[in-house]
Amino acid sequence: MKTGRKNGGNAPVIQKIPFGKGWNSVIESNASVIAVAIDGPSGAGKSTIARLLAEELRFIYVDTGALYRSVGYMALREGVPLRDEAAMRSLLPRLHMEIRYIDGVQRVLVNGEDVSGSIRTPEVSMAASAVSSLPAVRRFLFDLQRDLAKTNNVVMDGRDIGTVVLPDAQVKIFLTASAEVRAQRRFQELREKGESVSYDEVLADMKKRDYDDSHRAAAPLKAAADAVKVDTSSMDLEQAVAAIRAVIRKALA
Ligand code: DC
Repeated sequence: MKTGRKNGGNAPVIQKIPFGKGWNSVIESNASVIAVAIDGPSGAGKSTIARLLAEELRFIYVDTGALYRSVGYMALREGVPLRDEAAMRSLLPRLHMEIRYIDGVQRVLVNGEDVSGSIRTPEVSMAASAVSSLPAVRRFLFDLQRDLAKTNNVVMDGRDIGTVVLPDAQVKIFLTASAEVRAQRRFQELREKGESVSYDEVLADMKKRDYDDSHRAAAPLKAAADAVKVDTSSMDLEQAVAAIRAVIRKALA
């Protein structure tokens, strides 16, 4: 993928993160910034694991899916046809995207509005997947993601972080689990939030998104050749975190 032009001032705004308390010996072994890239399909546990490990490491956690979700959400709100690249191209310049960290938690602001609370619905999931297939959208979000990792130690999760966004990341992990296990996890999450969905719907959505995300032409979901693959199907959260922690330690040793 082309690296894209500067996108009209989309700016990361970073709250100062205290550095150096987590995994000192690991971090001090490298002088420049460190990037941990975690890719994989939805529901594999990327965001929970990435957030926990970023906290331990005192790195910033970057949830790139939230950016695609925010663009999808704005397109839905503005009635822009999601797969119409020309229509999306005219929407993008009107979106000023920012990532901020408030009490260590990532928020996405579009034109100054914090949309973080509105982007977790099944409808927005599908919209995010649709708009993420458009090269114009991927280019639009590229610099924002890349700039964050230029000046900060990051744990960044997404679909193309190890392959496209941060191909030089010191640590690359491809996290996966069976579609059924992932759907069950997502189903529980949605139910806890009061969304009325059935397991079968969640599984069908999950399979469709997996298919679309891994078959699109632009930066499809796939493991980088040098990524360590971890399957969390039979792991609980604690086991998965321990497995990923071990991969990071080994890679940075
Ligand atoms: O991780 P998530 O479920 O919040 O991501 C929402 C959608 O965004 C997902 O279906 C694919 C897309 N996405 C992407 O194409 N590239 C990324 N780096 C992150 C997400």
